[in-house]
Amino acid sequence: MRAVIWLIVCLLPALAHANSSWTQSTPEAVASAALHEGKCTTCHTRMYGGDGSGIYTRDGRVLSTRLDLLQRVAACSAQVSAGWFPDEEAGVAAWLNARYYRFGE
Ligand code: HEC
Repeated sequence: MRAVIWLIVCLLPALAHANSSWTQSTPEAVASAALHEGKCTTCHTRMYGGDGSGIYTRDGRVLSTRLDLLQRVAACSAQVSAGWFPDEEAGVAAWLNARYYRFGE
């Protein structure tokens, strides 16, 4: 539990930074799209077809805040041993938020 709290405390500044005036064409967005493409689309595409983005827009999805999204990205990246740094996870979470989720503060 302690480790989880520590992780969240460490990630929050990166998340706040990554979300400030985020657009699709910043270098961070381009890098995040490439990370996501490299590690995250195989299963989602198998489950939902197309580019797999249906998993992010499906009915009944369980995420409801940016923190939920960041935690889900961190969990998935750990599960598949993506080897991402926290700022890369935050970047992908922000990219997914800008593109699909659109959670506010
Ligand atoms: C081994 C297969 C697999 C890989 C690879 C994978 N995911 Fe997932 N992902 C899943 C499954 C299965 C679910 C649905 C879990 C559920 O229904 O609760 C999911 C759900 C998600 C969701 C939540 C979707 C929603 O309901 O809003 C996010 C966000 C997500 N994945 C991000 C990622 C990211 C980021 C990566 C790359 C680091 C990744 N996933 C790689 C299997 C995978």
